[in-house]
Amino acid sequence: MPAQIIDGKAIASKKRMEIANEVQKLKESGITPGLAVILVGDNHASRTYVSSKQKSCNELGMYSLLIEYPEHVTEEELLSKIDELNNDDRIHGILVQLPIPKHIDEIKVIESISPEKDVDGFHPINIGRMMTGQDAFLPCTPYGVMVLLEETGINITGKHVVVVGRSNIVGKPSGQLFLNKNATVTYCHSKTKDLVSHTKQADILVAAVGKANFIKAEHVKEGAVVIDVGINRNEAGKLCGDVAFEEVSQVAGYITPVPKGVGPMTITMLMYNTLKSAKKVLNSK
Ligand code: GUN
Repeated sequence: MPAQIIDGKAIASKKRMEIANEVQKLKESGITPGLAVILVGDNHASRTYVSSKQKSCNELGMYSLLIEYPEHVTEEELLSKIDELNNDDRIHGILVQLPIPKHIDEIKVIESISPEKDVDGFHPINIGRMMTGQDAFLPCTPYGVMVLLEETGINITGKHVVVVGRSNIVGKPSGQLFLNKNATVTYCHSKTKDLVSHTKQADILVAAVGKANFIKAEHVKEGAVVIDVGINRNEAGKLCGDVAFEEVSQVAGYITPVPKGVGPMTITMLMYNTLKSAKKVLNSK
């Protein structure tokens, strides 16, 4: 029997409706959640992502501020703007779209964002809070994966989760969030020997590799849940994930498609984090 498809677009729509309702309530208390997005240079993909983030803010009734800099902006100027936004009461979330040009220290930039406004969940304070199971802003893509599974009714406790990929943005935090939910977690990466022997053990397989159609049917156990976090283009220029969808969906129990799988959840969780940050301001009044 082919796998059940996890409809990320439908789950994201449902979550967005809930967020929009909460934004409305918060506005009645005099607070409009606000997100500032900083875009440096003219990377086409980054510009597309940033536009989607702004559009989502508008659709959900949030305030959005776009700050654009040319490629040659100095680190000092960027840090000074972040400092200004850290102290701006209209802004509850600050996001610097990555990648940024090489002459600017990315770590310094991330660490200059107030952890209380770090809605990307990239600041080491939020990463530390996440690792120790404290309240934190969780990174949006891994958080979106967890919500997809929760909404689909897939239990995580005791499951063997295999994460392929160890990026700071997706692979590493995904494994941590599954561990926090009592899974047994294995990380695989480019230096892993005999990848199939590991992935074949997975009850839940998370593909965050960044290579089109990298995970094949042979990697997957019968009935496994397969989460595809990849966003790639194949030889024909078509959007595709890290998982060879056609063949893997014949083996898996559940699978997320690309597009309309994990993708729509990322910005949804960014909106959720911005709302959460704004609600904290209300609660501290
Ligand atoms: N570049 C690619 N993904 C992301 C993301 O989630 N946040 C930021 N700030 N930049 C990115």
